[in-house]
Amino acid sequence: MSGRAPEIWIGEDGEALAREGARRIVEAARRAIAARGRFVLALAGGNTPRRLYQVLAHVESLDWSRIHVCFSDERMVSYDNPDSNFHMAQESLLQLVPIPPDQIHAVPIGMSVEEAAQRYDAILRALLKSEEPRLDLALLGMGADGHTASIFPGSRLLAGVDDDFLLDDSETGPLRVDVPTPSLDAYPTERLCAPVWDAPKAPKQRVTLTPYVLNLARQIIVLVAGDDKVAAVSAALESDAKVAEIPIRAIAPVTGELAWLLDRKAGRALR
Ligand code: 6PG
Repeated sequence: MSGRAPEIWIGEDGEALAREGARRIVEAARRAIAARGRFVLALAGGNTPRRLYQVLAHVESLDWSRIHVCFSDERMVSYDNPDSNFHMAQESLLQLVPIPPDQIHAVPIGMSVEEAAQRYDAILRALLKSEEPRLDLALLGMGADGHTASIFPGSRLLAGVDDDFLLDDSETGPLRVDVPTPSLDAYPTERLCAPVWDAPKAPKQRVTLTPYVLNLARQIIVLVAGDDKVAAVSAALESDAKVAEIPIRAIAPVTGELAWLLDRKAGRALR
């Protein structure tokens, strides 16, 4: 999927990465609040963002009364389960800052993954303004297999990007969710989030934002650290691998800004 070339920032270590990510989020929040009176931030799951959230929790100047958070993906486990992305964000950030509870938009759990995805789609539509339904900033991580959010290799959510062989990972047949150049005309019919039944990374059942809504974001930051991500970083940024193989290659906002923040380990093989 084409798009402007992403910015690539490489820091010494995880701490430098966390501080640079927090700095950019604070800057984006200030811009969004000044321009539109609020800042809508999609939080990434996994472990990498934890330190960034802890740094963000101690930034005094952030006006949390104007900030809404949602989640790029969520595992279908209870909110107090250590595997829950909500749990990690709650522990490292949300319970430490004065964000109004009704501005924390968690993925619903305790129901079927299909139902949770449908409800979260409605929650996101209520959150995003229909005339310009764009996240201000989406924070994403990447797995060693090139997945992002809960969009894994072979996912049906990548259909239409480069017509690759797609595994059918749903019980109800392939779900046609195009990943076109983000078009606001398609907004009423496109899915903003989708169920995942058999993620190769446990927990298997998840809800994920789709490439469509992510690529509408004004800004995307991909945060990657560690030796185990070297190959995926090079494949994502310096190969012509199909998105079905390296799903994060489907993340290419046409009008938004895309920045990859890497630690030296993850970025060491880049030319
Ligand atoms: C998830 C995440 C996932 C994560 C990557 C990297 O719910 O699993 O959203 O996309 O960002 O797997 O995870 P680490 O940061 O733990 O390496």
